[in-house]
Amino acid sequence: MNALELHSIYKSFGPQRALENINLSVPTGSRTVIVGPSGSGKTTLLRMIAGFEFPDAGSLTLNGQTLVDATHCVPAHQRLIGYVPQDGALFPHMTVAANIGFGLTDKGPTRQTRIAELMDSVALDASMAQRWPHELSGGQQQRVALARALAQQPRLMLLDEPFSALDTGLRAAMRKMVARLLADAGVTTILVTHDQSEALSFADQLAVMRQGRLVQSGPPMDLYQYPHDTQTALFLGDAVVMPARIEAGWAHCDLGRIAVNSQSTHPTAQIMLRPEQLQISSTSTDSSGCQGVVTERDFGGNTCTLTVALHAAEFEPGRSLLVRSTGLQAPATGSAVHVTTLGHAHILPD
Ligand SMILES: Nc1ncnc2c1ncn2[C@@H]1O[C@H](COP(=O)(O)OP(=O)(O)O)[C@@H](O)[C@H]1O
Ligand SMILES: [Mg+2]
Repeated sequence: MNALELHSIYKSFGPQRALENINLSVPTGSRTVIVGPSGSGKTTLLRMIAGFEFPDAGSLTLNGQTLVDATHCVPAHQRLIGYVPQDGALFPHMTVAANIGFGLTDKGPTRQTRIAELMDSVALDASMAQRWPHELSGGQQQRVALARALAQQPRLMLLDEPFSALDTGLRAAMRKMVARLLADAGVTTILVTHDQSEALSFADQLAVMRQGRLVQSGPPMDLYQYPHDTQTALFLGDAVVMPARIEAGWAHCDLGRIAVNSQSTHPTAQIMLRPEQLQISSTSTDSSGCQGVVTERDFGGNTCTLTVALHAAEFEPGRSLLVRSTGLQAPATGSAVHVTTLGHAHILPD
């Protein structure tokens, strides 16, 4: 069953169109991630679901209840939706405990117990209860904001770039903690981010936004492997995109002959491969693939990203492409290499 349904949502701020014909279903208990570049309309969409913005057209339902349509609108405080805005937005004049307990109706000892439980669930030490927001790190503030939102026992949790202020190590740890916490609580969640690796790892369902439009949605692995267009392909990771002649299930391109996974309506098309589908070796034991030379080596510890210029090139002589190699075994710049591919090439529909 779908918890949240968005139908044909439109929103403009004066001449600026922020959302255009957004349709999205969020299954109950899922983690949906909305990813897109800055200014693509992500925050506007979350604020609309929370009830702080109103659509110019379209409707929104949660568990079968209409939240907004042309004739009525449920106010934000009656939606039972938890919302953690981008900056956490803690009340600066309230302690951690008061922030978390803000929406609780319990009084006395039950209230204190509930606050302690919520602090524990977001891994905040009990000794922090009487601190002020300005005495907390960015990560701690985000956890207080999350605990405050969880206190409402929301039907849906909205998180706007919750990890963006954290450094890389803490970010991954927080992401795991929040994912586990929300799964344990069984809360349907929508997370917004502009970080593709965060999106791919957190999501059950991924929705890509660009310029106010939702350009593609589905399981993260499908979007990564079968993007609808080049921009989405490149937004979700490094990609090798090149022209090819398509014939009877094969793409003939500057890398030789590669099997394709779909039909093309045109005899030529753009194909996409992920760098991890390319393999290099120093000798050609394989008649497929093609020869090239390493022109750049970017050492990244456990993996190394190589730029390889291909020799034979029907479409573009000297075409360069990215290949990943095990860091310590990567060939040096100037080495002659043989490049072969693994799996299928994806035909980009655009
Ligand atoms: N209150 C507002 N008034 C005018 N323009 C706005 C307002 N909120 C957002 N916008 C515009 O709408 C677009 C989408 O913004 P936003 O939803 O914040 O994007 P994102 O969260 O993806 O960065 C941007 O062009 C932004 O400038
Ligand atoms: Mg935003």
